Amino acid sequence: MCGIVGYIGDKDVASVLLAGLWKLEYRGYDSCGIAVLNGGEIDLRKTTGRLMQLQELVDKTPISGNVGIGHTRWATHGEPTSINAHPHLDCKSKIAVVHNGIIENAYVLREKLIKSMHIFKSNTDTEVIPHLIEENFQGNLLDAVIKSMKELEGSFAIAVISVDDPGKIIAARKGSPLIIGIGENENFIASDIPALAGHTKKIIILEEGQVSLITQNDVKVYNLDGKEIKKEPEKIDIAMEILDKKGYPHFMLKEIMEQPDVIRDNIKDKWTNNSINLGEKFKMSSSELASITRIIIQACGTSWHAGYVAKYLLEDIARIHTEIDISSEFRYRNPVVSGETLVVAVSQSGETADTLAGVREAKAKFLKILSFVNVRNSTIARESDNAIYINAGPEIGVASTKAYTAEIFSLYLFSLYLARIKWTLGDNIVEKRINKLKELPDKMEKVLEKKGEIEKISEKYLSAKNFLFLGRGINYPSALEGALKLKEISYIHATGYPAGEMKHGPIALIDENTPVFAVVTNSSVYDKMMSNLEEVKARKGRIIAIATEGDERIKEIAEDVIYIPDVDEEISPILTALPMQLFAYYVAAKKGYDVDKPRNLAKSVTVE
Ligand code: G6P
Repeated sequence: MCGIVGYIGDKDVASVLLAGLWKLEYRGYDSCGIAVLNGGEIDLRKTTGRLMQLQELVDKTPISGNVGIGHTRWATHGEPTSINAHPHLDCKSKIAVVHNGIIENAYVLREKLIKSMHIFKSNTDTEVIPHLIEENFQGNLLDAVIKSMKELEGSFAIAVISVDDPGKIIAARKGSPLIIGIGENENFIASDIPALAGHTKKIIILEEGQVSLITQNDVKVYNLDGKEIKKEPEKIDIAMEILDKKGYPHFMLKEIMEQPDVIRDNIKDKWTNNSINLGEKFKMSSSELASITRIIIQACGTSWHAGYVAKYLLEDIARIHTEIDISSEFRYRNPVVSGETLVVAVSQSGETADTLAGVREAKAKFLKILSFVNVRNSTIARESDNAIYINAGPEIGVASTKAYTAEIFSLYLFSLYLARIKWTLGDNIVEKRINKLKELPDKMEKVLEKKGEIEKISEKYLSAKNFLFLGRGINYPSALEGALKLKEISYIHATGYPAGEMKHGPIALIDENTPVFAVVTNSSVYDKMMSNLEEVKARKGRIIAIATEGDERIKEIAEDVIYIPDVDEEISPILTALPMQLFAYYVAAKKGYDVDKPRNLAKSVTVE
């Protein structure tokens, strides 16, 4: 999704901005641009497509100056053209603005500004911002931005520079994240921490409704009344190596292969002194947890699938009624709740707009909130009463892999933790399950060793137009996730279904051209799955099965079988995810697609 960078200092500003944008490239975008204050004017370069094209523009006609802002745009209002790309300017080209988010009253403001003789060039909602600031400008850019912010509705993070008030960047936040990086004799802004890698480890995170005035040697933060707010910089650890593929052709493959270590490290961190340790941001007392009678999990995309697995875990292990909701539905459905309801948010980025809105909705209803988040200090982590970090490490590939299995892992531990408090499992049983968990990373490695085999299988299915993914019980969400992985990166239509429901519709799709990917591992529903697969086979469907080592019966039905080690049903989704991730990866890579940055998708969706 859109990325913002800004720089003020003595280095070559265009290079710093471009380097920052490269580090945000993984988030997904379709056009990009930079604006630099160059004496009495704003020097602008914008283009559709990739940063390489922007780099070429800058190489052809270099820009100089020491204050600038840059942006990668993921189109919402208006097509991805160079006119619609950010930065956007006011009528006199004296004010430049980059923006993440959506201005919901853009139409009304635009009409009003047009009546005041402002001339618009683009179809974006963003362009109202520089015109509004121009309208409100009386010599002080900070004042003009604060005044304009009060008129803007929606969610946004903006960075603004002006010819008439030079030597500063004004950055403001309402709904979308924005971070200020503090350097020596230079300062930075960015929408995401990775853009600051290699520059500084000292940051200030802007909170809702805060505006910052950034000069080369100073950073001040104000509220919307113009009152200064004292904020101490925080220290963070941004390692440069996160942006290194470590010899793999894509981040996605690297991240798939990292999963055993992620789980191994998580076990070390979260099982200490023979007890479950959910980390420093988890502060729920036993009596608070004991009073919970209902859980609503809300999340988006892959995190929603991890939450779906957790519904099975929490109900089965901790015996708590658990619902799973897509955040964009949860936030508007006005669920019936009580003080004993716990709302769980699951989010890799911790910034997804709908999930964050779900957290705020729960807060407004005075409910307890617990979030499972990967990115430390992200907005969801900060706004939740309690958070458990899934510790997957930075995930760069847009299609989520290691965060998914790490989310399931942490949700599983939470289920065990709750089970002990609710007395549905005794300490000795919890310990036995943890011992089984400790065997999981080695088993994951055994599955990943089959990547060559899975690559070969993938080659047979490159021309398929539709795929059906089937699973049952706790592996029904695995089927949903397998289908999502395939469609998001290979652009092959894929649908996940609970196998028992197949006969109520999707069976009509089955023929020799619609491959069926099935999770049919050792489980309480193994025989049921086999019967469903017989129905597929009877209709000439081609089956790719994930089965448990030693299962000979499946070979009679499936065209391709990927064997995985035997594993307890409740933790099997962590293992069954791996072959489906690899399958999707190889199909997409062999089709020549940009696996890490699939079209139209964004890593962190900060708009509704
Ligand atoms: C986007 C990403 C998905 C991700 C979803 C939720 O759609 O492309 O990979 O699962 O957002 O993101 P979150 O950061 O909240 O887990």
